[in-house]
Amino acid sequence: MSIAVIGAGYVGLTTAVAFASTGHQVVGIDIDQQRVDLLNSGVSPIVEEGVSTYLRAGLSTGHLTFDSDISAVADAEFIFLCLPTPTTPSGHPDLSFVESACLAIRDVASPGAVAITKSTVPVGTHRTVSRWLDRPDLAVVSNPEFLREGTALADFLDPDRVVVGAIDRRAAERVADLYRGFTDSIVMVGPTEAELIKYAANAFLATRLSFVNEIARISAAFRADPTAVLAGLGADHRVGPHFLQPGPGWGGSCFPKDTIALQRLAIDAAIDVPVISGAIESNDRQIDHTIATILSIVPSCGVARIAVWGLTFKAGTDDTRCSPAMSITARLASAGHSITTFDPATEITPPGTTSAPDMFEATRGAHLLVVLTEWDEFAKADLNKVASLMSGSRIYDARMVLDRSGVETAGLEYFSLARQPALAFSP
Ligand code: UGA
Repeated sequence: MSIAVIGAGYVGLTTAVAFASTGHQVVGIDIDQQRVDLLNSGVSPIVEEGVSTYLRAGLSTGHLTFDSDISAVADAEFIFLCLPTPTTPSGHPDLSFVESACLAIRDVASPGAVAITKSTVPVGTHRTVSRWLDRPDLAVVSNPEFLREGTALADFLDPDRVVVGAIDRRAAERVADLYRGFTDSIVMVGPTEAELIKYAANAFLATRLSFVNEIARISAAFRADPTAVLAGLGADHRVGPHFLQPGPGWGGSCFPKDTIALQRLAIDAAIDVPVISGAIESNDRQIDHTIATILSIVPSCGVARIAVWGLTFKAGTDDTRCSPAMSITARLASAGHSITTFDPATEITPPGTTSAPDMFEATRGAHLLVVLTEWDEFAKADLNKVASLMSGSRIYDARMVLDRSGVETAGLEYFSLARQPALAFSP
């Protein structure tokens, strides 16, 4: 099949390289000429496991090309819209990138092509897309993505399910056929249902994590091990063991944006949603709690030197958008402390902080080390070396990835969600 993918971010690029790997003819389109040149030279602009290899394979077989000119969609039977939908101050997603793409497609798409929305869009957007396209010969299908950054390609090649929503059943079948090589689990629904499934999935997972973080805080207050409590909870098959890891708060380019969009959608429809609103508020509290705990263990030495390991919103990605690690670090800096950061995937660091070339260099002279992202190399770090470089002895492990006994053997003091410095409540 001939496929065009508009937007070469982590969703669009993953979609393009994955379809090209199965023999389809794919053109990836992006307005950023520099990004297009980079991609055509075989270099991925994003850190995403496996994407570089698939990109180079697609270019060398000739199944994959990139272009900045929208008229490259002219030959496509399928046009995937993988464009950003950032949050506006009102909480409504900004659909201007999707709108511009639709207006451009309108003039060049070949008759009978299918336009497929992969971007996360408000309920009812399929109707707006049809209106923008204004081409009755083009079908519109909603096919939300469920790719996790860091494992996006693996998720695409082996999905739990693929959701296809359309009024035009024949167009929906054609889109479903594109995925048959990857999975038989294809959920065929109407377009409104497809749009809602995406929001429901992200809001559900975000709510689950807010709950998990609250249970972790309650466990710590009662001197119970949250990991043991949550493992016991997850052993119930109705709950399941996934998405139970407490942390400094959930973030990224999707959960915050999508929970706010769903909350906005509900408010606009005059529906009261205290659970979704509570999940958002609880996450803000989790970030506040992490900062308060860190500040409570900063040695009282005037300006403290704090080393921060990890700035991305989770391990396996270079994405720092809506990363709790970024906001926590920025707030520690604005509390007047001197911060040196290290992240294996990004050199971006909040204003007023300094980035170190490696994780050990970041700890040189530090009074306190804070671990904010669960990178494997932090879990495996030589803690004796860390102890010899630091001038203080305290570590706050917001992801609970370090081995507590290893930390203590190295002569350092270990604090985490499970091991708080001072418990407000003594049971
Ligand atoms: C999320 C969804 O998982 C994908 O299904 C969805 O397609 C994607 O959003 C999207 O809408 O595009 P992603 O944002 O890449 O994927 O990240 P997740 O792995 O879901 O993690 C989100 C946040 O939850 C991160 O801050 C992560 O650190 C945190 N998290 C995750 C935890 O704190 N604990 C966990 O057990 C799992």
